[in-house]
Amino acid sequence: MNFHRVKQLHGELTIPGDKSISHRSVMFGSIAKGITEIQGFLPGADCISTINCFRKMGVTIEQNNCSVIVHGNGLHGLVKPDSILDCGNSGTTTRLISGILSAQNFSVTLTGDSSIQKRPMARIIDPLRMMGADITSVNNNQCAPLHINGAHLHGIHYDSRVASAQVKSAILLAGLYADGPTSVTEPYVSRNHTELMLKGFGAEISCNDTTATIHPATELYSQHITVPGDISSAAFFLAAGLLVPNSELLIRNVGINPTRDGMIRVCREMGGHITLFNQTNAGGEPAADILVSSSNLKGITIEGSLIPTLIDELPIIALMACFAQGTTIIKDAAELKVKESNRIAVMVKNLTAMGADVKETEDGMIIHGGKPLHGAIIDTKSDHRIAMTFAIAGILADGETTLQNPECVTISYPEFYNDLKRCIQ
Ligand code: S3P
Repeated sequence: MNFHRVKQLHGELTIPGDKSISHRSVMFGSIAKGITEIQGFLPGADCISTINCFRKMGVTIEQNNCSVIVHGNGLHGLVKPDSILDCGNSGTTTRLISGILSAQNFSVTLTGDSSIQKRPMARIIDPLRMMGADITSVNNNQCAPLHINGAHLHGIHYDSRVASAQVKSAILLAGLYADGPTSVTEPYVSRNHTELMLKGFGAEISCNDTTATIHPATELYSQHITVPGDISSAAFFLAAGLLVPNSELLIRNVGINPTRDGMIRVCREMGGHITLFNQTNAGGEPAADILVSSSNLKGITIEGSLIPTLIDELPIIALMACFAQGTTIIKDAAELKVKESNRIAVMVKNLTAMGADVKETEDGMIIHGGKPLHGAIIDTKSDHRIAMTFAIAGILADGETTLQNPECVTISYPEFYNDLKRCIQ
């Protein structure tokens, strides 16, 4: 797929549903009692993997594009699947479901695509084992496939080395089934969708600073869930609206949960014109419309507690930094190396191929902005966020930019290229 520089972007967009919230709505609906109705669901490949896993465990789930109805089986109503669970490309599916499966009265094997089979699972295997889980890496390499024999679980306190909502959520979900309270402390607060939504489903869960605590549950109760648009998807249009000259985009219904809103903070700190209005709140998840217009950006340092609030946006932020005046430093972001691809290495390689001045560091990147970008052949590594980042790079650069394996955007944003085309004037 080829891209060329565009003159300007204009228009209005409604961003597809939040991926993290969509996964959780299906998972929690499946282990709740009653019918959970979900609106604004993201029908991307990752969330479909979650639906298929729970269907295999006996849950009836009706999905019609962005509307989903989950006929929950109750906390103890899942049944043994008759084959391996396929989590596809989804780390969220693999890790969160492992917390639930550790406490069932059956055994199961789960795996995913070649990317999932390279992603670190020790981060969930270790704490779940501390709780009494019988979970092993089938190939003994701390990666999927994972084999889990359901077991009796104990409550623990866990000090996590990484700020990871997937790790935190796996432990909290196992904690629903444990024989005492379970708490997780993280170095920085990661996204809190699990805590907010589980509370809505009736779980006893509390948060204090960087610690979340859950009490064992006897039952969860079905909910109506409205999923806001995914700020991680909106980020590509926020960046494009700032970077393409003479542009103005209205991006509707974007989730702005404070544990996810680092992109907005960074855009503003870099000097971007961004206005939020029409703020709403459903299930504790705030959302707003965002108006963005072309801006002159300056380089900044992005580090520390800000990192988990924009972890998935760092590829597109790195692109923004190439167009900013001065130097942008991204640090404390070693987690980027263990995403769908090694996003530090892939960003540095592809941005360098386009002429950017970017250097890889231990835990991030240093980007000297202001060098003009030119087209190149981009290996997306089939990583959806890399593909979308370089589609935006392609509409900003001189000459032709070619994306290899562009179709991977179906993971989180199936209509991305059509939405982008609609904004190009
Ligand atoms: C997610 C958490 C983050 C994020 C991922 C979705 C979630 O991963 O990068 O896209 O839904 O909990 P980590 O928990 O590994 O940081």
